[in-house]
Amino acid sequence: MLEYDREHILHPYAPSNPSSDMTFVKSAKGVYLELEDGKKIIDGMSSWWSVIHGYNVESLNNAAIEQIGKVSHVMFGGITHEPAIKLAQKLIEITDKPLDRVFFSDSGSVAVEVALKMAFQYWNSQGNSEKTKILAFSKGYHGDTFGAMSVCDPVTGMHSAFEGILHKNIFADAPACPYGAKWDETYIADFASKLEKNYKAIAAVIIEPIVQGAGGMRIYSPEFLKSVRTLCDKYDVLLILDEIATGFGRTGKLFAYEHANVSADILCVGKALTGGYMSLAATLTTQKVMQGVEANGNVLMHGPTFMANPLACSVANASLELLLNSPWEERIHTIQTQLNEELTKCEELSIVKEVRTLGAIGVVELNEAVDLGFMTPEFIKEGVWVRPFLNLVYIMPPFVITQEELTHLTTAVFNVVKRYQNHTTDSKKV
Ligand SMILES: Cc1ncc(COP(=O)(O)O)c(C=O)c1O
Repeated sequence: MLEYDREHILHPYAPSNPSSDMTFVKSAKGVYLELEDGKKIIDGMSSWWSVIHGYNVESLNNAAIEQIGKVSHVMFGGITHEPAIKLAQKLIEITDKPLDRVFFSDSGSVAVEVALKMAFQYWNSQGNSEKTKILAFSKGYHGDTFGAMSVCDPVTGMHSAFEGILHKNIFADAPACPYGAKWDETYIADFASKLEKNYKAIAAVIIEPIVQGAGGMRIYSPEFLKSVRTLCDKYDVLLILDEIATGFGRTGKLFAYEHANVSADILCVGKALTGGYMSLAATLTTQKVMQGVEANGNVLMHGPTFMANPLACSVANASLELLLNSPWEERIHTIQTQLNEELTKCEELSIVKEVRTLGAIGVVELNEAVDLGFMTPEFIKEGVWVRPFLNLVYIMPPFVITQEELTHLTTAVFNVVKRYQNHTTDSKKV
């Protein structure tokens, strides 16, 4: 099977026919992935932020099984169903008050496409055709579809691979004031001046609240987000908050924007929405934005085949129930304290530039790029699954991880980074 995989199946951002085999997962339970040879390793990544309750969770399994017996899929054009209605009600209840319109889609990238369409159509339907740009941020990441790519970091994102093809947007400097650091207005100066100069052409600002994820795992000051909101209001520009990675507790708040006490005009959620069971995302907006979109008889121009898939909505309902009835705040606070205490030790290593943590996110930034060929087998040897990128070794475990399991994970991070330091020193000597 591994040979077939290598020859025929493409994996994310990877060469076809790669030099090393994929890691084969046979099953998963709790925080453990079971490999081909029966070895069980702790998933330090929550399958890219999504598996917040761990794997193979009884109540989520039951929600899926029950829904399969009723209807696993039905088109959403002209039809509706209970799982979607219940999920919309819940999302409206737990997000900020003005957000009371929900568009379901099948992945985070599509949720971002829908958010961009809402923003452009909002102005266009009302007769303003000048607003054709989005103001985004360096080091941002919003997905891999064309609209989403056009608002990802212009250097480390995918712009160079699609030179001349992507829609050209405007970029402000990445938020540079770290979370908890002393704030001053110079941090917002670049954003403020780009907005002031270009607001007539800008339909919306898009930003990942508090944590810039796949663009660099940067954790920034809530004051920055507050200033972004204030300036969007001043220049009458919509604000899109992309909570796809940060939503549902990961940063210690249910939604990361709560750290800054701001609200969005358009909000994207995904990933952990179904507890990582299946692909589902949503774009929420306000009555005001929808009235603008629908001015002069227009409608929002989007409608995926699997929109509001009942199976995914049922599992999402069960996942939200499980999360909201759990002591999630306390759990994440405990994880954050432990990550802080245990990962800080990595700063002893000269290869480590910085350790930062927020909620159930721990980041060890190195002074040089990682080598996955070296690190992946080393992590598996240590009994954990960690997938670094660029110069970042980061973990964001399922919220149900125990204290002992988390210590196992952080110790593995320290050991592997230390071995990597020795390995790079040795290869430089050679
Ligand atoms: C902040 C953010 N937005 C959007 C996306 C895209 O989501 P998906 O991979 O489900 O398309 C991601 C994925 O990592 C993300 O982190």
